[in-house]
Amino acid sequence: MKCIKLKCEYQTNPIGIDVKNPRFSWQIESEKQNIIQETYRIQCSNNKTFEEKKLLWDTGFVSTNNSNQIEYKGRELSSFQGVYWRVMVETNRGVSAFSEIAYFEMGFLDTEWLGNWITSDVKFQAKDQCPILKKNIYLTDTPVSARMYITSLGVYESEINSNKVNQDILAPGWTSYNNHLQYQTYDVKDMLVKGENTIAVTLGSGWYMGKIGFEKHGGPENRYGDTVALLAQIEAKYADGQSQIIVTDDSWKSDQSAIIFSGIYDGEHYDARIESSKNYDELASVKIYEPENQFDIVGQITPGVRVIDTIKPVELITTPNGDKVLDFGQNMVGWVKVSAQGNAGDEIYLKHGEIMLDNEFYNVNMRSAKTEALYILKGEGIETFEPHFTFFGFRYVKIEKYPGDIDINQFKGIVISSDIEYSGMFKCSNEKVNKLYENIVWGQKGNFVDIPTDCPQRDERLGWTADTQVFAATACYNAMSVSFYDKWLKDLAFDQLPNGCVPFVVPDVVRDSRTSSAWGDAATIVPYTLYRFYKDKKILERQYHSMKKWVEYIRAEGETETLWNTGFQFNDWLAKDGYGLTTMHGATPKDLVATAMFYYSTTLLVKSAQVLGYTEDVAKYNNLAERIKQTFNYEFVTKAGRISGETQTAYTLAIQFNLLDDKNIEVATKQLVELVRREEHRITTGFVGTPYIAHVLSNNGYNEDAYRMLLNEECPGWLYQVNMGATTIWERWDSLLPDGSINSGRMNSFNHYAYGSIAQWLFEVVLGITPDNGFQTFNIAPKPNPLLGFARGAIDTLYGRIQSAWEINEETITVSVSIPCNTTAKLYLPEVCQQDFKDTIQFENVDGALVIMLGSGNYSFTYSNKDIKALK
Ligand code: BGC
Repeated sequence: MKCIKLKCEYQTNPIGIDVKNPRFSWQIESEKQNIIQETYRIQCSNNKTFEEKKLLWDTGFVSTNNSNQIEYKGRELSSFQGVYWRVMVETNRGVSAFSEIAYFEMGFLDTEWLGNWITSDVKFQAKDQCPILKKNIYLTDTPVSARMYITSLGVYESEINSNKVNQDILAPGWTSYNNHLQYQTYDVKDMLVKGENTIAVTLGSGWYMGKIGFEKHGGPENRYGDTVALLAQIEAKYADGQSQIIVTDDSWKSDQSAIIFSGIYDGEHYDARIESSKNYDELASVKIYEPENQFDIVGQITPGVRVIDTIKPVELITTPNGDKVLDFGQNMVGWVKVSAQGNAGDEIYLKHGEIMLDNEFYNVNMRSAKTEALYILKGEGIETFEPHFTFFGFRYVKIEKYPGDIDINQFKGIVISSDIEYSGMFKCSNEKVNKLYENIVWGQKGNFVDIPTDCPQRDERLGWTADTQVFAATACYNAMSVSFYDKWLKDLAFDQLPNGCVPFVVPDVVRDSRTSSAWGDAATIVPYTLYRFYKDKKILERQYHSMKKWVEYIRAEGETETLWNTGFQFNDWLAKDGYGLTTMHGATPKDLVATAMFYYSTTLLVKSAQVLGYTEDVAKYNNLAERIKQTFNYEFVTKAGRISGETQTAYTLAIQFNLLDDKNIEVATKQLVELVRREEHRITTGFVGTPYIAHVLSNNGYNEDAYRMLLNEECPGWLYQVNMGATTIWERWDSLLPDGSINSGRMNSFNHYAYGSIAQWLFEVVLGITPDNGFQTFNIAPKPNPLLGFARGAIDTLYGRIQSAWEINEETITVSVSIPCNTTAKLYLPEVCQQDFKDTIQFENVDGALVIMLGSGNYSFTYSNKDIKALK
């Protein structure tokens, strides 16, 4: 028995955290079944010896089965302090030894930065030219440890002695800069040497002052400021206990870098002829800069954006027009790394696009985003280029200029994403569904670029709130998404208006004073989703005020306090029922959608208040929810159970959120099924109905219709996109029309993950893995259907890996599951298979199901196929 995967604040051995009482988690590994932790013991120490008397914290044996969210409560920690920690557990079936030693290290707690903000003194011809700031330093010895703390207004790339310091791309990341800015901490011991060292930091406009958002509302540039600046501090420690600190101050030097243009949307221009080779003394000076805004500088809490993959182009196409276009075979996010040999002044010019239309390169759908890379050679041997402060969403790259013959091997696709752990797996007997799942994961990776974006390619790449909430549960099945969303939710609360209005996008660069239901509901849906998947009470507690403000905002908005029938609504965005007629907002009445979502948010507020023990709010918002429900029924439901609008989304929302009186559920479900069958299982819901419709069908007796909807290959449908060659999820069900033409170039992204939310149904219903309480106790209620021969999948939780699989054979069905240590699961099988198990298994009968209690371990159950009818 072992304790493994020790994490601190969800990270492995993090440095530079500024959470005073960081939280720990670990997993238990054992060959034995039914393991439950009975006690844990954590020790924290200043060094690896864990000398009893000098410990910072020794919990002794604490009786609990909790193995995550355990808060450090030892001696108070100070800035930059490093802490070694280890854990052991006693379980019902044996005791572990102490784990291997893990580590965490503090950043700035109550300590001020010693340096100043500095900016370049060079006069640039154009605003988006990138300065480079340099400092030569002399170290008296070889350091035994060294850290660089660094942040910037704009984005930075930092080098020590020509070694890249930050693997993070677009650091310091995008936050609500007026409120808080992240710094990064890097271990730079191995880069520093005794004697002369050069530090060089290049700065780019990034989200801070480059183009971001739309023309209206004050223009897309200089959203947060008009000057890029740097703040850094290096501390080198020597063997004799002395240390040397280097900070940003007016002794630094500056110059123009070779990046002569850089912008998130437009791309990058790089002129290798001006790579800075000037003598240090010839460089221009820097200025001390006082940022206009007051913001906190905070430690990074989520993995940065990194290179996560490299792919080769599959083909060099010569189009009928004679263009040279590289096909990377996959709609990806990142850039192309390219090598070439030529003369000084020769150019490489690349344009990025997602699709080919009529066999030609197409990028009209990038709208105003130029998405270009221009490299100018210096003419010295083989030169390799890649951009620094931008990214592209693309599958095809048009090579407009290249010196000499184009060799496909000189091009590599560099894939970037926020570097969270992906562990979700889904496979089934239908290859098209497998491809769909792959596309969904690519969609997540491409749209997790420091913030959750709507799309990664055109002139948006914004934290649209609906897109985020719609996909949140799917993202948590696919990957450890908790700290990624934690960061974003802080910004949501920062950027929420004083009256509770949640902006369309977070961080809010659109600055519209309007909101919309299903968009603003991200304020309640995302924190509660994180609670279900990770039991993170701290996030819930921190967000609670924002959640409540959102519900109160709606309450004040409508004509009455229980009906939201005023103002602008995006409504069931891009639903196919309303599209083509007059609108992109779908045919479901907007007051219905707004009031249903209002109800849902209020119920999530109640659940959160329950978790947090806010009893007065539980009563208050339960009462509000009850009254919203009455209003909903009065306004939108007939006595016979029909729902206004008669759309898939209208019925879906009413049933999914439990808005109907019991007597109407059956009629409403039948009506929904009727609508679905009338469309021959084509899905006509938009952003609002799509995440729920398959759940509603499966959970109310029409599982087979949900499967048929998934497997429908006609437009609109998930597999229609797969058949049309999609490698990610499209913004519109019919971004490409059945004849291969494009459905509008104005608003048409081929990497928009919202409809990828069907993966939640694959995990939660097909495999039946249902989160609650961070998965310490959970249900596995698979709903197999013979339309698929088998399905299997897995997710990694904070306790370990959960697996669920089923296979339908000629005469039997086998269900197999793995339950991690220190958790228990209830496995739901159809009641009718009871006869196959005779007295071999202990179970309970609950609502027509056979419920088997399982402790940790691997299990397999086989029962007769004739029971298949019970699965429908
Ligand atoms: C974005 C969306 C977003 C929407 C609002 C679009 O331009 O790409 O996904 O939610 O605007 O309707």
